[in-house]
Amino acid sequence: MSAAERAGLALLQRLDPERAHGLALRALRAGLLPRRPPVTGPRLRTHLFGLDLPNPIGIAAGFDKNAVALHGLYDRSGMGFVEVGGITPRPQPGNARPRLFRLTEDQAVINRFGFNNDGMEAIAGRLAAHPGGRTGLNLGSNKDTTDRAADYVSVLTRCGPHADFATVNVSSPNTERLRDLQGPAALRALLARVIEANAGLQRPLPLLVKIAPDLPDDALDEIAGIAEESGLAGIIATNTTTDRTGLRSRHAAEPGGLSGQPLFERSTRVLARLSTRTHLPLIGVGGIATPEQAYAKILAGASAVQLYSALAFQGLGLIGALAEGLDRLLARDGHASVASAVGTGRDAWL
Ligand SMILES: Cc1cc2nc3c(=O)[nH]c(=O)nc-3n(C[C@H](O)[C@H](O)[C@H](O)COP(=O)(O)O)c2cc1C
Repeated sequence: MSAAERAGLALLQRLDPERAHGLALRALRAGLLPRRPPVTGPRLRTHLFGLDLPNPIGIAAGFDKNAVALHGLYDRSGMGFVEVGGITPRPQPGNARPRLFRLTEDQAVINRFGFNNDGMEAIAGRLAAHPGGRTGLNLGSNKDTTDRAADYVSVLTRCGPHADFATVNVSSPNTERLRDLQGPAALRALLARVIEANAGLQRPLPLLVKIAPDLPDDALDEIAGIAEESGLAGIIATNTTTDRTGLRSRHAAEPGGLSGQPLFERSTRVLARLSTRTHLPLIGVGGIATPEQAYAKILAGASAVQLYSALAFQGLGLIGALAEGLDRLLARDGHASVASAVGTGRDAWL
């Protein structure tokens, strides 16, 4: 990281976290950050549900909710892929501020945004202006909707033609009863409608489901089965947690979803468990801040990984460092590719 970047990051960390994030996105849009093409090479190149990724390190949903910084993220973050959103059909303001908290002592974040976003029309326009090739949609539903499935279908239909994969997000803790959609009957019914809409697109997208880390093993097993029999392209594990065990920060009791370091272990266990139940590709997310942690997710069963919270503490330069470090770890252990390492260390997490 350059001295200027280090100073910028230190400044951002003294600001209100939501304001700091807004400024970081503006800096990206304005081209103020250094150019960082993705770190790549034969070991890092990853073929995932039809997409060719230069590396398997992705930016998780919520970072660029409104797809305002796609150009910057493609040119200046080094990421292998990005998921924009959560997107809802109509724009909505989300919950009252403050709604984003930095738990520095715990290297964690709590958010209760509640799907604040500009809505699918505005976001579809931005996606259309950036052809991408490695952009996912995080599908959400409006707070006051009467038919959640209809909302996911609307966003997929409107934004899908401009994206490369889509995630059915049934795991955000900040929209009342959204997580109920993870129950078997509700999930089957929801996926059936989304899959039908996807089949109607001129270019159907790989569809994923993103799950919570707070589910018991039998629920995970059921979801893995449903995902597989529905013909989904993969599962993202995991979203933020409502668990608050072991935190030290003064913000620990804030309601919302917790992400970052305290989520690493639980989300990796969920990933490992899923990988014993399905052959679908898994994307591992939750608490990644070092190359060793990205590698641990791959060994536990992830074909690719995503992160968000650690970027708030370490800046976007972290993505390139993760890719380089991961490449070294793969080489050290004699893996010719990410794919050859996937799941080989799973038992340590079961
Ligand atoms: C501020 C914030 C907003 C988020 N918004 C979304 C969202 O809209 N949709 C979603 O599926 N996940 C959302 N997430 C969850 C992340 O995508 C990710 O699953 C989670 O933060 C765990 O990864 P991390 O520990 O690397 O942050 C959000 C996370 C944060 C911190």
